[in-house]
Amino acid sequence: MTKAVAINGSPRMEKGSTALILNPFIQGMQYGGCSVELFFASKLKVLPCECGALRCWRVTPGECIYQDNMRLLIPELKISEILVIATPIYSPLPGDMQNILNRMVPLLKPELVWRDGRTRARFRDGIAIRKIVLVAVGGWWETENMDRLVNIIREFAETASVEFAGAVLRPHAGYMKKEGVLTEPGKAVVQAVKQAGSELVRNGKIEEGTLLKIRRPLIPEPRYISG
Ligand SMILES: Cc1cc2nc3c(=O)[nH]c(=O)nc-3n(C[C@H](O)[C@H](O)[C@H](O)COP(=O)(O)O)c2cc1C
Repeated sequence: MTKAVAINGSPRMEKGSTALILNPFIQGMQYGGCSVELFFASKLKVLPCECGALRCWRVTPGECIYQDNMRLLIPELKISEILVIATPIYSPLPGDMQNILNRMVPLLKPELVWRDGRTRARFRDGIAIRKIVLVAVGGWWETENMDRLVNIIREFAETASVEFAGAVLRPHAGYMKKEGVLTEPGKAVVQAVKQAGSELVRNGKIEEGTLLKIRRPLIPEPRYISG
C-alpha cells in the first residue's frame, strides 16, 4: 500500500479552511488505496533552524542540533512516498510550517549538483519521499496571489530532486461556507478535492480539470475592496 504523510500548517488546525480542503483530499487518497499520517505544524512546534551554518551537513551529517518534535515526523518521511504540504497562504507561509521545511535540510545529502542551470540536492538514502503535493487555501479572491507559495513548494521539491505533483488551490476559501455551513458550490469543491486525492494516488497526477473545479470562483471578481 502507498504511504503518505500530510502536514497541516494552519494555526487554526481542524477549525481552519485548510482542514476543510485537506481532509477530503486525504479521504480521496485513502479511497485510492493510500494510508495517510496527518500532522499539525502548530502541535509539533518544531524549533526554527538557528545554527544557520549547515552543521547538519558539515559537522553532524543528517543530525540537527535540536532534538524536538521533528523526531516524530522524520520516521514517517522515511517510509512515505508522498508528502502533502497543506497550508494557508500567509504571505507566504505560517511560521511553524516554514520551520518544518527548513528543518528538512538535514534530510538532504550535502552534495549539490548543477542541473539544467540550477543548484540541486537529493534526499539522503532512506528517505522515501518521491512526490510532493501542495494543498493551499487563501483569503484573497485571485488564485494568482498564491503563485509565490506554489513556487516555494515547487522549488522545495525540485531542490530535493523529487516530483512536484501539483498544487490544489482554493482562493477565497471562506466563501465555501455561509453561516458556518457548506454551500452547494462549497460541497462541489469538496467533492472535487476528494477526486483530486484519489487521482493522485491512482494515476500519479491530478487532472487539470479537477484542479480548475477546486479553484473556480465562488463569488464574482470584486470591483473594489474596502477596509
Ligand atoms: C498573517 C496572514 C497573512 C495572510 N496572507 C494572505 C495572502 O497573502 N493571500 C491570501 O490569499 N490570503 C492571505 N491570508 C488569509 C488566509 O490565507 C486565509 O484566511 C485562509 O483561509 C486561512 O486558512 P485557515 O482557516 O486554515 O487558517 C493571510 C492571513 C494571515 C493571518
